[in-house]
Amino acid sequence: MKIGRLNHIGIAVPSIEASWEIYKNLYGITQSDITPIGEMPSQGVRYSFVNLENSQIELIEPLGENSPIANFLAKNPNGGQHHICFEVVDIYAARDYLVAKGAKVLGEPRIGAHGTLVVFVHPKDTNGVLIELMETPKGH
Ligand code: CO
Repeated sequence: MKIGRLNHIGIAVPSIEASWEIYKNLYGITQSDITPIGEMPSQGVRYSFVNLENSQIELIEPLGENSPIANFLAKNPNGGQHHICFEVVDIYAARDYLVAKGAKVLGEPRIGAHGTLVVFVHPKDTNGVLIELMETPKGH
């Protein structure tokens, strides 16, 4: 198992729309660089991607009462870097490899915002950084 390209960096934000304005105001992003807001109720988030030349920023905002990012935002009220996402060829092979290595894989692979399977690895295993692994979208 070897990770592939950096797919995106996840940033937890209190308001996606307010965050859009930051990227437009400071970093030259236009609305055409930004994907419409999507919702994943099962994962407790709303999300939008800012498309960059070589990667994406994933803006995530809590959705519902038991959002897994609610605690993060309680500690970081202005938002903050939440996770980074690497692509892998086979999510189950990657999961099995990491489990065999003793890493703490969080839950079962499930469909993420790109429509492919994702799984998360606990921050304690990677210098305090929450890692998302995502199966490479077909056609990429
Ligand atoms: Co993500």
